[in-house]
Amino acid sequence: MIIAVLNQKGGVGKTTITLHLAYGLSKRGEKVLVVDADPQGSARDWAAARRNDPRLPVVGLDRPVLHRDLPALAADYDQVVIDGPPRATEIVRSAILAADGILIPVQPSPYDVWACAQLITLIKEASVFKETLKTAFLLNRKIVNTVIATAVREALATYQIPVLQSVISQRIAFAESAATGSVVWETDPRGKAVQEIEQVIDELLEVWQ
Ligand SMILES: Nc1ncnc2c1ncn2[C@@H]1O[C@H](COP(=O)(O)OP(=O)(O)O)[C@@H](O)[C@H]1O
Ligand SMILES: [Mg+2]
Repeated sequence: MIIAVLNQKGGVGKTTITLHLAYGLSKRGEKVLVVDADPQGSARDWAAARRNDPRLPVVGLDRPVLHRDLPALAADYDQVVIDGPPRATEIVRSAILAADGILIPVQPSPYDVWACAQLITLIKEASVFKETLKTAFLLNRKIVNTVIATAVREALATYQIPVLQSVISQRIAFAESAATGSVVWETDPRGKAVQEIEQVIDELLEVWQ
């Protein structure tokens, strides 16, 4: 399956979620490729910091040719996870065309939900031609011991895209992983961050199967 992690807003957790989703899938025995579609190359930086772990290859493909070039690359893998760019509408459109599933990390604030409007329009346009395209919102950076505000749920509901039950909280372990080229399974194996991302993967595999 080709999963694109998209949101044209920066800082919502696309790269963090991409790398953790990809690592978690590879940990479950899947052969996984990460495609860094962001010209900023954060996923490539992460891979360089961990000295290019052969179990989790990260390749850069940050041009609007994903839909043309990815199928051949993807044939050698069980799962491909695309780390989407901010803005860059043409690359995002290309990633949507290439993908079987689109995961949209969003921070639990109504402003962040409204900022997804353009992406949702692109997805709806593509889904006319791709009836099997799967989509889901993933709430990221939830503040621990708070509830998701009703305003956020209402704003998300207007898009008619499913919202995963599992959420990812704001946790130091996730923030640290970026700088050190690691993942939370390595830095805090028994922590809550691992539990959260494992739950997200379980749910995603269930609802998208
Ligand atoms: N759940 C989280 N908890 C703590 N820090 C997070 C979390 N998700 C993302 N971050 C941090 O927020 C910043 C932006 O995340 P990133 O994944 O790079 O977003 P994007 O790729 O959408 O721009 C990074 O410094 C990252 O470490
Ligand atoms: Mg990023």
